[in-house]
Amino acid sequence: MSTDPQPTGHDDPAASARGTELASDYTVSLHYDRRLYREDIRASIAHARMLGRQGIVEEDEAAQIVDGLEKVRAEIESGDFPWKPELEDIHMNVESRLFDLIGDVAGRLHTARSRNDQVSTDTRLYMRQACDDTVTALRTLQSAFVSAAEANITTVLPGYTHLQRAQPVLLAHHLLAYFEMFDRDATRFAAAQESADVLTLGNGAMAGVPYPIDRESVAEELGFGRITANSMDGVSDRDFALEYLSAAAICAMHLSRLAEEFVIWSSDEFRFLSLPDNYTTGSSIMPQKRNPDFAELARGKTGRVYGNLFAMLTTLKGLPLTYNRDLQEDKEGLFDSVDTLLATLGVTAGMIGGARFNAGRMRQAVESSYVLATDIADYLVGKGTPFREAHIIVSNLSDRLNADGRFFKDLSLDEFRVASSLFEADVLEIDIDSSIASRDVPGGTSPTRVKAALAEAKARLKEAGQ
Ligand code: ARG
Repeated sequence: MSTDPQPTGHDDPAASARGTELASDYTVSLHYDRRLYREDIRASIAHARMLGRQGIVEEDEAAQIVDGLEKVRAEIESGDFPWKPELEDIHMNVESRLFDLIGDVAGRLHTARSRNDQVSTDTRLYMRQACDDTVTALRTLQSAFVSAAEANITTVLPGYTHLQRAQPVLLAHHLLAYFEMFDRDATRFAAAQESADVLTLGNGAMAGVPYPIDRESVAEELGFGRITANSMDGVSDRDFALEYLSAAAICAMHLSRLAEEFVIWSSDEFRFLSLPDNYTTGSSIMPQKRNPDFAELARGKTGRVYGNLFAMLTTLKGLPLTYNRDLQEDKEGLFDSVDTLLATLGVTAGMIGGARFNAGRMRQAVESSYVLATDIADYLVGKGTPFREAHIIVSNLSDRLNADGRFFKDLSLDEFRVASSLFEADVLEIDIDSSIASRDVPGGTSPTRVKAALAEAKARLKEAGQ
């Protein structure tokens, strides 16, 4: 903003004062970055101790600073802290309160650092914890899937492609598909955590600092695995946040797909699933309804999680090196994605845990369908028919049955033989169970493979400390 007086269009001094107030509000981040108070104080304590050890400040000054910072933390935690939005952010609030509590020695804390490396350090500390929390929530959700799969190990349902009944599968197989998605998500959050696990303190504003600091010892105290290699990259890098946001977007997409299935499956048209009462709501006007609001919100909130990723990508794309105030825009969306994702993971685990799957209805959907068509085509292949030809024969057969409102199980051997003379009596043995059992390949839906997958899923959870 220019420092020249700006034309206001009127000369009301009160309005112009309000204008000034508005202009400074615009730069304030305290209302959201105050949630970084623990990280901010923790990093400041580590920094102060290092300054003392290195003789950059006197040991007793460092001790007073550490003491004071602990008091500040206690005040924040007891709700007694005098927050001052006019000081802009969490860093300035903490430091200013330190002055109140310990006097001028507080001024030594900001030796050999800048808010630029401070805010990055705080955010990285926060991010490391957020990744842990997210992975824990994912593991809890995966456990809920394993329990549901185990409880429904013999339940069959139509697997769908294009939302058309395709082939019979075990419900446990369907549920374990989500286990795999959330397993990949956990890997992505672990990778984001790895990216966050780098100490940026010591970069100063951007060029490094002219003091004999010991960055390694600060990294060690704060539990960082590495220190940044380039001070300019260090203060301007937000890749770790982008990595969380993109992992969150993918995870939210998985949750949304599941939510969509819950919505569809709990509809009267499907009735595959009853959602637990505490995850549905009544309609204010239609007394018969149980609306799947939680699942719908899980699906709907995906938009914000995607939005936060795009907001951050867009904020970053035009930034010259190094720190620019635009970077302050990194936190709100990040916090929102963390909060939204953790809440959705928790709600989804609750929904899965309390869901009642309607095995009878699922089986009926398999029976009143042509999902054995592939098996019958494969039967002909076994008798020497080329698959493409078998496909045509069975396709015609199912079209005819469909027109008559009949199914493969209603066909006599003679009727089969009209379609192809290669059909023999054993074609009548093809049924849902034989179809499922025949998918006995790694990753397939046969009961033996699904039981093995279940055991493998449990082993992976155990290894992950669940
Ligand atoms: N509130 C700022 C942020 O979140 C802290 C760093 C400010 N640095 C500065 N040079 N103005 O990015």
